Amino acid sequence: MTTSVLFVCLGNICRSPLAEGAMRRLAEAESAALEIDSAGTGDWHIGHAPDPRAQAEALRRGLDISMLRARQVTEEDFHRFDHIVAMDAKNLADLLAMRPDGARAAVSLLLDHAEGGDVPDPYYGGDEGFAETFQLVEDGVRGLLQAISGQRATTL
Ligand code: 4NP
Repeated sequence: MTTSVLFVCLGNICRSPLAEGAMRRLAEAESAALEIDSAGTGDWHIGHAPDPRAQAEALRRGLDISMLRARQVTEEDFHRFDHIVAMDAKNLADLLAMRPDGARAAVSLLLDHAEGGDVPDPYYGGDEGFAETFQLVEDGVRGLLQAISGQRATTL
C-alpha cells in the first residue's frame, strides 16, 4: 500500500521542499512506499527552484533538492493525497479554509508529529535560519513516518 504525502508551506521554495527531500531520503532508507510532493499556499514562486539557501543547506546534509519546482496547492490535492502536512499554523489555517467537501486528506501540522509548534519561515532571515529549519523538518518527517507506519500496522 502506498501512502501519499503533500508538504505545504507559503512559497514552496524553502521549508516544504526541504521536507519533501528529507522525507524522500528517509522513506528510501526505510523502504517505505510513499508518494511525496510539496506545494505552497501562495503563487509567487510557481515554477521556481528552491531558494539557493535551502538548496545549500540541503547539500550540506547530503541532499540534492535542485530539481524540485514550486507549485501552488489545489483543491484536487485534497482528493489525491492521504496526508497534507503544513509547516506552520498559518499554512494550516489556509489549508483548512480551502479544504473541499469530501476531502480524503488528513491535514496536520508537521511538528505535531515531533516536538510541536511551527517550522518558522526562514525566508526573510539569514543563512543560519536554514540550519534550524532543516533540523526541525528532519524531526518532523521522522515522526510523521512513524505515525504513518503505525497506522499501517494497525489497519493490517
Ligand atoms: P517558504 O518560505 O514558505 O518556506 O517557501 C517563503 C518563501 C517565499 C516567501 C515567503 C516565505 N515570499 O513571501 O515570497
